[in-house]
Amino acid sequence: MSAVFCLRLKYKVQNKKLKSMEKSKPIKRSKSIQPLSRDHHHSLLLCWKIRKGFLKGVAPERIKKYTDWFFEDHVLPHFEIEERYLYPVLGEENELVQKALAEHRRLKRLFKDKEDLVKSLGSIEKELELHIRFEERELFNEIQKEATEEELAVIAEKHKDEKFQENTEDEFWK
Ligand SMILES: [Fe+2]
Ligand SMILES: [Fe+2]
Repeated sequence: MSAVFCLRLKYKVQNKKLKSMEKSKPIKRSKSIQPLSRDHHHSLLLCWKIRKGFLKGVAPERIKKYTDWFFEDHVLPHFEIEERYLYPVLGEENELVQKALAEHRRLKRLFKDKEDLVKSLGSIEKELELHIRFEERELFNEIQKEATEEELAVIAEKHKDEKFQENTEDEFWK
């Protein structure tokens, strides 16, 4: 291998490393989008609660009851705001948006499943977490980059930060 080729190869590898570092560097979340990121935190906690319930041998029906409440009160309104005000910033032709919409459809089906609770709760635990990581690491960064001031103002207006009200009826994870 010639020295020049070696050097080029080295440069290419370094460049690739740099690029991937840039990609994974966290971007400061826009103030308008922060309440949605806080919702994500509570959804990640739901995934943790499901895992904890399984580990403790809690009846799936009890986990399902809490999960149903969380879906109606938190997941559905959150999906709606994303679909109405965030995703349109990039447009529905955008590949990232298409992936997110497909994941919303799949998650809604899983939350509504009443047949095999162990299977659907297990899938929610994995797939909801992956969906959130994807939004936080990729999709929201793109939306934030492309959004106009007006679009960010509408997002902020439609989703104000409200204190999370826990459902303490049956805290099976404790
Ligand atoms: Fe989403
Ligand atoms: Fe989300």
